Amino acid sequence: MTTRTLAQVIESIPTADGAGVKLRRSLGSQRGVHVDPFLMLDEFYSDNPDDYLAGFPAHPHRGFETVTYMLDGHMRHEDHLGNRGDLGPGDVQWMTAARGIIHSEMPLQSEGRMRGFQLWLNLPAKEKMKPAAYRDIPARDIPVVKLAGGGEVKVIAGTLQLDGASTAGPVNGPIKGGGAQLSTDPTYLDVRLPAGAVFNAPLPAGHNAFLYLYEGNAAIGAEGAAKPLPHRAAGVLSDGDEMRVQADAGGVRFLLLAAKPLREPVVQYGPFVMNTREEIEQAVADYRSGRLASAA
Ligand code: FE2
Repeated sequence: MTTRTLAQVIESIPTADGAGVKLRRSLGSQRGVHVDPFLMLDEFYSDNPDDYLAGFPAHPHRGFETVTYMLDGHMRHEDHLGNRGDLGPGDVQWMTAARGIIHSEMPLQSEGRMRGFQLWLNLPAKEKMKPAAYRDIPARDIPVVKLAGGGEVKVIAGTLQLDGASTAGPVNGPIKGGGAQLSTDPTYLDVRLPAGAVFNAPLPAGHNAFLYLYEGNAAIGAEGAAKPLPHRAAGVLSDGDEMRVQADAGGVRFLLLAAKPLREPVVQYGPFVMNTREEIEQAVADYRSGRLASAA
């Protein structure tokens, strides 16, 4: 087994998006710095309604998938296809924008904590113009694996196979990759470890992977050679077939993302991510003329 090491740290920076929602962006904060096929990771976290009330009014996407994972608070999604979903704590929305979607994501609360993540996952060239799709995944449909040393893992996408976990055998998340369904075959885990605990898990060799620590601190890599990853930064892992994370004295909570790289050109213009500049110009023209979200 080759244990993945911490190869690169992408610090998160405070920014705002939508109509002024304050958030921290790690992946996607520097032009051209991606972890193929992941394009962007935003964390929104505030107890102050002024930071989130403006929400994300109607806007387009083309060429990739957006994955929203709520930890606290409530948001409503509505799109031009007539999909409507309320996201509450622990819920996930997996939206494949593909050829085009126009949607809004607005808070359903006027006070209290709003906290969660939005991830952008690229699509291969041959799937960028397929019809849009949308999936709401309620928290109850996301398996939770209790770890032998304390802590737990929510399996949002992909498969988790652990020794010593309470659940025997591999645990599949509601989004299960490979083949026709999701050609990037993503793994998306939300892991909570108590003080000093170690999380050691296999990861498919050749898949690009990164971690995002959203509470506490941890060291990444093989025992004796682990490197610290700062809180609220994306830690890009080297290749290997397993990963190891050791929580610091305060415990840690982190996201783990891995997927098969596309190795295709990425041309991004705001909410459109295509392979060429001409395709971006087409997306802009289609949006302006009302054809972005049409079926043909
Ligand atoms: Fe969006």
